[in-house]
Amino acid sequence: MKIKTYSEEETIEFGRQFAKRLKKGDVLAFYGELGSGKTTLIKGIVEGLSYKKPIKSPSFIIVAVYPSEIPIYHIDLYRLNNIKEIDNIGLLEYIYGDGISLIEWAEKIEELLPKKRINIKISIISEKEREIEIEEF
Ligand SMILES: Nc1ncnc2c1ncn2[C@@H]1O[C@H](COP(=O)(O)OP(=O)(O)OP(=O)(O)O)[C@@H](O)[C@H]1O
Ligand SMILES: [Mg+2]
Repeated sequence: MKIKTYSEEETIEFGRQFAKRLKKGDVLAFYGELGSGKTTLIKGIVEGLSYKKPIKSPSFIIVAVYPSEIPIYHIDLYRLNNIKEIDNIGLLEYIYGDGISLIEWAEKIEELLPKKRINIKISIISEKEREIEIEEF
């Protein structure tokens, strides 16, 4: 599935709607350059999963846990330098656990991701235009 959005708010709204089809154990791998809108889309998804408090990128920590009805794990691997670091954080326990995992910069741990997952690729078309491509495996 491919869609386009033309504003930050539209991407958030798409996320809110998309969240309705998510269930326990789902893993969403986000791909897309800096500023493409990964965190923005995740914000909408987290809202759609009825978590009410504001979300921001986990900046110094790699995982932010949102205790929603289904626990949400927002994982941002931007600052992950070495795949060996993931053992220390217990990252795979989140990803292979019962919550919903939303992973930014998923390519950094590509080989460790479950094959059954949802890939979300965001491309910058112009200042406000984004293409969001979703593939389910
Ligand atoms: N259609 C759009 N959808 C989403 N964001 C948009 C859109 N148009 C413009 N923007 C802007 O693009 C930026 C997206 O930032 P965001 O933090 O979501 O990106 P990111 O992919 O998470 O980046 P990073 O790799 O740094 O974590 C925001 O400043 C937002 O306002
Ligand atoms: Mg981000």
